[in-house]
Amino acid sequence: MKTALYPGSFDPITYGHIDVIKRAANIFDKLTVAVLNNRSKSSLFSVDERVKMIEEIVGDLENVTVVSYEGLLVDYAREMGANVIIRGLRAVTDFEYELQMSQTNRKLSDDEVDTVFLNTDLRYAYLSSSTVREVASFGGDISKFVPKEVAIKVYDKYK
Ligand code: PNS
Repeated sequence: MKTALYPGSFDPITYGHIDVIKRAANIFDKLTVAVLNNRSKSSLFSVDERVKMIEEIVGDLENVTVVSYEGLLVDYAREMGANVIIRGLRAVTDFEYELQMSQTNRKLSDDEVDTVFLNTDLRYAYLSSSTVREVASFGGDISKFVPKEVAIKVYDKYK
């Protein structure tokens, strides 16, 4: 049974994340989407709101669960028996940060936890949660970036 962990801030979840979740769920037996509870970073949505939102979107995928975590990712991966971390790679600009993070996680886990990168679908290569927040904060159209139910919640935050 191969279990993978897809961690992130998901503030909010975008079509790019959803595409990675669906593809990873096809590759692995079990996929856990893990929302980081980062107390030192301010976020638009609370962790609970983010978990709920992601559940609403991917709840129909039988082998996917959504959780939140705090602390080191590798500790959480060990706790839940996952030895693969999934990350999406949009462009070369993501590469340095992602490479460093994957190597750090491998070392921290005594070479037990590997990172598997899925290249983001070209349709979403430009997309990020921060872009979504920025556009929405000015009342712009985010319907091409996030599902309708997410867009409603994002606009609500900027009311
Ligand atoms: O969506 P993001 O913000 O790019 O995700 C980054 C995330 C949450 C995967 C990363 O910051 C993380 O795992 N933080 C938890 C702390 C940790 O384990 N740090 C060591 C890896 S460098």
